[in-house]
Amino acid sequence: MDVVVKPLVEDNLLLLNQAIRREPFAHYERYLSQCSGILIYLIAWCDGLPIGIVMVRWKGKSLPALERCYPGCPHLMDLYVVAAYRGCGVGTRLMMAAEQAVRVRGYAHLGLSVALQNRRARGLYERRGYQDVGLDTYHISWTEVDGEGKSREIEDECIYLVRML
Ligand SMILES: CC(C)(COP(=O)(O)OP(=O)(O)OC[C@H]1O[C@@H](n2cnc3c(N)ncnc32)[C@H](O)[C@@H]1OP(=O)(O)O)[C@@H](O)C(=O)NCCC(=O)NCCS
Repeated sequence: MDVVVKPLVEDNLLLLNQAIRREPFAHYERYLSQCSGILIYLIAWCDGLPIGIVMVRWKGKSLPALERCYPGCPHLMDLYVVAAYRGCGVGTRLMMAAEQAVRVRGYAHLGLSVALQNRRARGLYERRGYQDVGLDTYHISWTEVDGEGKSREIEDECIYLVRML
């Protein structure tokens, strides 16, 4: 499978909105934040279609214990691969591209949250060297949008993992 990972450009917003549903304007807002230097928004493409996304916010998550141990650690968010393309290395490719972007910007670490019950994502992260840094678990909630555009609130208990790059 020929997969290319690159930062989102404005011309691709329409295709991305059609292929990967998020809250209204989420892709556009991320694109604007990328233009302002707040984050990088990487898209995986296969045969002209967006098949996966991941985002890195340069200013890390504000968890006091995290800021003490890993000050300024960027935060990876919303790793997602379209269901039909899972298990073929696309998630890994997105992680590699995100890590490379973080290195190029001069950071030594990258952090991320993962739900305790999300064994698949956690397995992927741990294989790539992300480790539980011993922070307390914490509660998050977000809006999930399905393929038909219906949204529902999700709540999860998460741990924080960090990798030295
Ligand atoms: C988590 C997620 C991003 C992983 O994406 P993916 O593209 O399936 O990831 P990869 O293919 O790189 O790795 C996943 C699995 O495929 C296997 N794999 C990787 N490359 C492979 C290849 N070339 N051939 C066969 N299998 C392969 C990996 O060993 C891994 O094994 P697993 O089944 O034990 O998990 C995807 O499942 C997803 O979008 N889930 C929903 C959203 C989510 O949970 N995001 C994480 C939030 S913290």
